[in-house]
Amino acid sequence: MEEIWDQLVAYRIKHREVSIKELFKSDSGRFSAFSCSLEDMLFDYSKTSIDKESLKLLLCLAEESTLQQRRDAMFSGERINTTEQRSVLHTALRNRSSNPVYVAGRDVMPGINSTLAKMASFAEGIRAGDIHSASGSTFTDVVNIGIGGSDLGPSMSTLALAPFHDGPRTHFVSNVDGAHITDTLKDLNPARTLIVVASKTFTTIETMTNARTALRWMRKELGEYAGSHFVALSSAHDRTDEFGIPSDRVFGFEDWVGGRYSVWGPIGLSLMLAIGSEKFSEFLQGAFEMDNHFRTTPFERNMPVLLGLVGVWHHNICDYSSRAVLPYDQRLSRFSAYLQQLDMESNGKRVDLNGMGLQRFSGPIVWGEPGTNGQHAFYQLIHQGTEVVPCEFLVAANGFEANLSEHHELLLSNCLAQSEALMCGRSLEDVRLLLAEQGIEDPDGNLVAHRVFPGNRPSTTLVYRKLTPSTLGRLIALYEHRVFVEGCLCNINSFDQWGVELGKQLASELLPLIKAGDGSQSKDGSTAGLLRTLDLLRRDVTV
Ligand code: F6P
Repeated sequence: MEEIWDQLVAYRIKHREVSIKELFKSDSGRFSAFSCSLEDMLFDYSKTSIDKESLKLLLCLAEESTLQQRRDAMFSGERINTTEQRSVLHTALRNRSSNPVYVAGRDVMPGINSTLAKMASFAEGIRAGDIHSASGSTFTDVVNIGIGGSDLGPSMSTLALAPFHDGPRTHFVSNVDGAHITDTLKDLNPARTLIVVASKTFTTIETMTNARTALRWMRKELGEYAGSHFVALSSAHDRTDEFGIPSDRVFGFEDWVGGRYSVWGPIGLSLMLAIGSEKFSEFLQGAFEMDNHFRTTPFERNMPVLLGLVGVWHHNICDYSSRAVLPYDQRLSRFSAYLQQLDMESNGKRVDLNGMGLQRFSGPIVWGEPGTNGQHAFYQLIHQGTEVVPCEFLVAANGFEANLSEHHELLLSNCLAQSEALMCGRSLEDVRLLLAEQGIEDPDGNLVAHRVFPGNRPSTTLVYRKLTPSTLGRLIALYEHRVFVEGCLCNINSFDQWGVELGKQLASELLPLIKAGDGSQSKDGSTAGLLRTLDLLRRDVTV
């Protein structure tokens, strides 16, 4: 395995001068050879520097790694999250087959299916007005209170599937900053609002603080009936009981569903309320199809494997430190935020599965904004900055706005223009000619230098027919498996998140100091100084 890593690095060094444009020149079939599809979704990675030989080596790396074995272990419920001794079975939540899935000898599918049926009956009851508010009226608004995986999955997906909304309006509160809940609740009527408290552990400080604030808001209007406007999505039944949510309003899931992988079950309730249980099933079906593809397709045509290999090539072999995810799809405007948790919380690790320091980079920095907005903001750096940023474009062939086809055509042309510009660039000679044509004089060559685009910048493009529930399901599952692939190749555990603990602990230690306005106990001079300044400012004293 180490040998293949070395071969890849050596190959890259030897061929780094070969441009992507040249690769196209020497291979007329490059697009078909360096793309793969799953029905109406196509992944094109031909605009990268990967050639036949490096692809062979990358596939070899995948074959020789534990990927196949760990993939099968994941699907079959083995405890591959070793630091927490847990199975990793978000795929069971979207298992649309009648095949059982065992955890420690017990088939978990009956439990999953009955929770799904309970969610569907609740969601349809709310949507139809059969389950109503304390005063007997229909719920018009749903507020999901959660953070991290208990927010990003449902909020990103609910926005993505806006054309399918035919249920109550949905809102999402995540930040402990009181501004978030205040601004969300200010135009809502408590008498017609359902609060969904989403927290796997039911201990997360941000979520519990927001939930208590929402309860007080509700109590002001409904008094003792406030509790009937609350629902919990959690695996901690003792704590949901303590909060006062009756068990028939608790939708549970087990510890083998990680927070950032949880949108497929109860945590997806707000999405189900917005689009209905039938469309939610289509969402699960799409993900299930991607699961089957990932499980059964040979690596050379396997979309998550290839996406993962492209990621490893860029991050670990070419040393590009970040990855921009650029959906030319406005409704995917939260997709990169969602991916930040999925990818960076999963693969942002410093040790391998055995606790040994990693020999190579773990996951990259993931960022992005929807096109075309990004073009008018940070694309300057992507095109001409000194750092190479591999770009991952996503685009639907069709929009939903049939009467605005001109908009969609512009969107498509912009998306393709960007990947073409990144690859082809604009040479010194071309800029000189252009200036001459325009009659612009540039005696010292200064203008020319500013207008050159180096090109040879890698990108991939994922094309799909339309952003339907099933497409979104496929898309999320594709990225989930990609993260898994990259984690396997780097030999890390993608399913724990110890790196979030220290900050949480320190925040709880600092809270009494903030309240007391006393920095004398702090562990360092900067924190002490900041505490002192904050205390003065909070008491309105000049600093
Ligand atoms: O702090 C990180 C984290 O544990 C995430 O992994 C998780 O998605 C989020 O917090 C929320 O956790 P919970 O659903 O238990 O409130």
